[in-house]
Amino acid sequence: MLPESAPRLIPTTFATAPIKDSKFEDMTLEDIVRAAAKSAKNVDLFHNAAQVWNHDFFWRSMRPQGGGAPSGQLQRMIARDFKDEEQLSQKLHETAVKQFGSGWAWLIFNRGKLSVVSTSNADTPLTTSATPLLAIDVWEHAYYLDHQNRRTEYVDAFLKHLINWNFAAERLNAAFAGSEMPVELRSAGRQAR
Ligand SMILES: [Fe+2]
Repeated sequence: MLPESAPRLIPTTFATAPIKDSKFEDMTLEDIVRAAAKSAKNVDLFHNAAQVWNHDFFWRSMRPQGGGAPSGQLQRMIARDFKDEEQLSQKLHETAVKQFGSGWAWLIFNRGKLSVVSTSNADTPLTTSATPLLAIDVWEHAYYLDHQNRRTEYVDAFLKHLINWNFAAERLNAAFAGSEMPVELRSAGRQAR
């Protein structure tokens, strides 16, 4: 779930046309994505709703003068699950570059652990038990204007200059707010203070 302070980006054409007078009409965008994913007859709605959500999430996954290194609880979890931020960046890079065709690379938090996954087309971890923390759009339209077909170059630039670790940290903290923090992180947190 996005932070409460985050503006909701739902284009008027999407919000009014396909869902008017349906059970989806009063749902949040996240609930529309999750509900539409459950039935093949709603595949068009799922594709449109999920791509709005995925892109909204993607914009927040980067910032001007991004990059750098994560800190706090996020950094401790990265150290536990990936060894260090460099290893995580390599995993994100490899996953983004190897995704066949259009899709997304994600840093997710699931069942107490961080991991990196990819999805195809409009598919999104939002429909799973995972909490998405960061997204990299690897549809070719995301990088063609600046990098043509050189996806590797685009992913390099994203990880070095755009990635928004603060957003991932906010998402992780929000995920922890309603759940039990793993013991090793609680003790690490005490040591850090
Ligand atoms: Fe895109």
